[in-house]
Amino acid sequence: MSTTVRVWDLPTRVFHWALVASIIGLVITAKIGGNAMAWHFRCGYAVLSLLLFRLVWGMVGGYWSRFRAFLYSPTTVLRYLKGLGAPEHSIGHNPLGSGSVFALLGFLLLQVASGLFSDDEIATLGPLVKFASGPLVRAATFYHASIGKWILLGMVALHLGAISFYLIKEGRNIFVAMIHGDKTVLLAARSSRDDARSRLLAAAILTACVALVLSLLKLAE
Ligand code: HEM
Repeated sequence: MSTTVRVWDLPTRVFHWALVASIIGLVITAKIGGNAMAWHFRCGYAVLSLLLFRLVWGMVGGYWSRFRAFLYSPTTVLRYLKGLGAPEHSIGHNPLGSGSVFALLGFLLLQVASGLFSDDEIATLGPLVKFASGPLVRAATFYHASIGKWILLGMVALHLGAISFYLIKEGRNIFVAMIHGDKTVLLAARSSRDDARSRLLAAAILTACVALVLSLLKLAE
């Protein structure tokens, strides 16, 4: 018997696609440079707000978006790699995918944080540069411009490669679940809460995260 499960609640989907749009904006504005850097900063602040939101949503969000729903022990990951995964692993992030989700979120946070302290010594100065020592600013700038961006681009390529692999090799289209939120599975499973109240809560959390980022910037002025 198959059941339809709400895997990704609306806030998680909005988070995901807003993150994708902001990252595309970051890459394009970094390539253009010059006046476009003002938008590079804005996209960076958007990513920071989204990441703060996701950290909170990972604790209070829909069941499958909570970190504890995809925090697996090394033994479970090894068993999964040996083909001994449990049926419910096909619902949310599986033991292999979960590692890449945590890594993506972590490296994105590191990229934004290093950007705040970066100084290209020409015209672009991160808002928190004045609070850091010279060596820290140099290290942050080097990481942001020469290492971090490549790590992230590699991780995004891996992410898209994994999604294509599931589609081409296993015939599983996991992409659509990030659009409409649902998966059809062959087991009884709980759905993520995704009603008006949880969406309102998400909107309030996101507003608070944006306000936090804006006040941080105000303080740094
Ligand atoms: C800049 C590019 C991208 C980044 C940084 C990114 C990041 C992420 C993150 C952080 C998650 C975890 C979602 C969560 O639990 O909050 C995720 C999941 C997912 N993303 Fe992306 N994403 C990108 C592009 C895409 C694109 C273009 C697609 C579609 C072709 C896609 C499809 C998915 C799907 C299907 C999942 C769920 C995977 C699963 O079932 O475990 N992503 N992505």
